[in-house]
Amino acid sequence: MTSSTSLSDDRFAFLDLKPDVDFVLDEVFAGLSLEAKSISPKFFYDERGSELFDAITQLPEYYVTRTEMGMFDAHVEEIAAALGENICVIEYGSGSTKKIRRLLEALKPEAYVPVDISGDYLLSNAQTLVQDFPELKIFPVCADITQSFALPAQVEALRPLGFFPGSSIGNFEPSQAVDFLQRVRTTLGSGGYFLVGVDAKKDISILEAAYDDAAGVTAEFNLNTLVHLNEKLGADFDVGNFEHFSHYNPEQGCIQMFLKSLVAQRVNIADKVFSFAEGELLHTENSYKYAKQEFITLAQSAQFDCLQSWQDANEWFSLFLLRAH
Ligand SMILES: C[S@@+](CC[C@H](N)C(=O)[O-])C[C@H]1O[C@@H](n2cnc3c(N)ncnc32)[C@H](O)[C@@H]1O
Repeated sequence: MTSSTSLSDDRFAFLDLKPDVDFVLDEVFAGLSLEAKSISPKFFYDERGSELFDAITQLPEYYVTRTEMGMFDAHVEEIAAALGENICVIEYGSGSTKKIRRLLEALKPEAYVPVDISGDYLLSNAQTLVQDFPELKIFPVCADITQSFALPAQVEALRPLGFFPGSSIGNFEPSQAVDFLQRVRTTLGSGGYFLVGVDAKKDISILEAAYDDAAGVTAEFNLNTLVHLNEKLGADFDVGNFEHFSHYNPEQGCIQMFLKSLVAQRVNIADKVFSFAEGELLHTENSYKYAKQEFITLAQSAQFDCLQSWQDANEWFSLFLLRAH
């Protein structure tokens, strides 16, 4: 399923475990063959998609990043005190690595393992971080976190802290979130810590604005999926024939993002052809919102105890420090 290459010295080693093209093609074909067409949110993220997500985090409507950052500022010393020494932080979907910068100075881990599917963006951010934190060992891993992967051998003797900010856990269906947490538990081992940022249910107008901003950056981010598939798989999506659509689904408790086909059209990918009707929706992301106790119950069903949890003053966002038992 994966190709594997590495580039290393004492303090830095890059491990490339990204899924190969055949695996990706099978996954895309399966999603586009469903009656309600769907594609995983991981396909947002080529280098341009990662840059667009970074731009989203700075939008006035996108309260998630600044709320979570404020919570790190407020609680990082407590988190550090709970963890102790000889820590290796493993960040799932590390992106721009901005959030870990806030934590590194307080946690003082021995090593940091950023894991991301967006390989070039991961490597360039990790190379910058290694210069900015001269005491830190950094072992980036390009991998798909929806699959099992092994940690680099260099961190085996350290105490693992998984880190999953940004409410990315909300991109999984709740049952898939339990499967994911179980895989994380296997990777971290019994006694491993997991720090997770989770978005809460709130006024629908606030939620919907955060996923459909006035400047159109989220729309461009969503549409970039098609550009990514054209480049990666040689597909021929006409991006101008689709538009961004998102809404809050109150029954499921999640924001849903789609690409709407503006015309009846056919799209070629490798040796297959997919037809879209005018108005047909291609589902690209769910973003589940969890009340505090809902998430604690979910984590417990994957054999994690909740050691501590925090919320911001508006109760818009929650931070959970979990430990695997
Ligand atoms: C919403 S961004 C969050 C970035 C950062 N952690 C934050 O909180 O701001 C999601 C990140 O996870 C990565 N990602 C998404 N799906 C992934 C997958 N299946 N495997 C590995 N990385 C993934 C993306 O490339 C992106 O950097």
